[in-house]
Amino acid sequence: MKNRIGVLTGGGDCPGLNAVIRAVVKTATKLDWETIGFIGGYEGLLDKEYLHLDYKEMDPLLNRGGTILGTSNKGRFAVKTGVGQSQQLDPNVMAASLKNFHELGLKALVCIGGDGSLTIAQHLYEGGIPLVGVPKTIDNDLEGTLLTFGFDSAVGCAMDAIDRLHTTAESHNRVMIVELMGRYAGWITLWAGVSGGADIILLPEIPFNYESICAQIKKREKIGKHFTIVAVSEGAHEQGGSVTLAAPMEANREAKLGGIGEKVSMEISRRSGKECRVCVLGHLQRGGGPTSLDRVLCTAFGARAVNLIRDGKFGYMTAFTPTNVVGAIKIKDAVGKLRLIQPDNPMLACARAMGISFGDELPKNNEPSNLQ
Ligand code: F6P
Repeated sequence: MKNRIGVLTGGGDCPGLNAVIRAVVKTATKLDWETIGFIGGYEGLLDKEYLHLDYKEMDPLLNRGGTILGTSNKGRFAVKTGVGQSQQLDPNVMAASLKNFHELGLKALVCIGGDGSLTIAQHLYEGGIPLVGVPKTIDNDLEGTLLTFGFDSAVGCAMDAIDRLHTTAESHNRVMIVELMGRYAGWITLWAGVSGGADIILLPEIPFNYESICAQIKKREKIGKHFTIVAVSEGAHEQGGSVTLAAPMEANREAKLGGIGEKVSMEISRRSGKECRVCVLGHLQRGGGPTSLDRVLCTAFGARAVNLIRDGKFGYMTAFTPTNVVGAIKIKDAVGKLRLIQPDNPMLACARAMGISFGDELPKNNEPSNLQ
């Protein structure tokens, strides 16, 4: 009988999930292994709902957005209870998963997911299921890998939006505020803000004050720039304040962030008298197909994941590190702690050096004269 592996996609979707599935199936087929894909993430393992994934059907998947397997960020596997906090997997769910895993004749699982889904993977691994992980999230906030797939595609979408907002902001002399995803990590906003030429970037890691934001707008007015682009992370907040929730908290679910763009807009308008407009990019950042970088990452991650199984490196996750584009680290070292932007991040220094404001500093009296 052929070796058989299972693959599943968990948590929020993002561009590139199908490209990883394709790479997993193609690599497994070369080893003469069979692959099944569980429907709806871990729930499919529990309900024994799966598809046989055939090599010949994989070609259209490289650039297709979403996931052909479906996914879920709620259900019977919920173990994450907050940032860096998790509870034990329900013992009945663990036992049933293990039973199904064996009954289906599986050699191992490939679990594609972010912090929440890989935390579940770690619990299943500790409960006796041999598996490997592939790091997915547009938020790029997983420890141990400099890049998660999906991030570059989300940044591309956000950058494109900022480009478009520039022309309309300039025509109307407005302040345009674009609210971007990322939860508690500002990676999407920092990268999209820098690549799109935002004038003010507000990140969860750098609490802002309105005086500083309005000073930057005023400074631009003085040099004849009557419009300003503000890129704000959904998790950004005022100094001494806290994140803005779009909906009340639900038990055992991640907080639903949203609304900071509107708050920032109202306050800028009140303090500066400038006309402001808000654009909340939302799930557009998660839709559509992957960029070239994400396609390469997904393909390499998918192939490496199967090779990790071949080599018996269970409990490991593929990782992008400066020395190894397709490295591998233990899943337990990646989950439970978010990778946030550190104050000494060189990108922050470069952005500040060219005059981008992070809303945390007031202008100094000795600013260069062309900015006064
Ligand atoms: O973690 C990915 C992410 O897109 C976050 O950036 C965002 O806060 C959240 O998921 C939105 O989740 P949902 O799809 O449940 O609204």
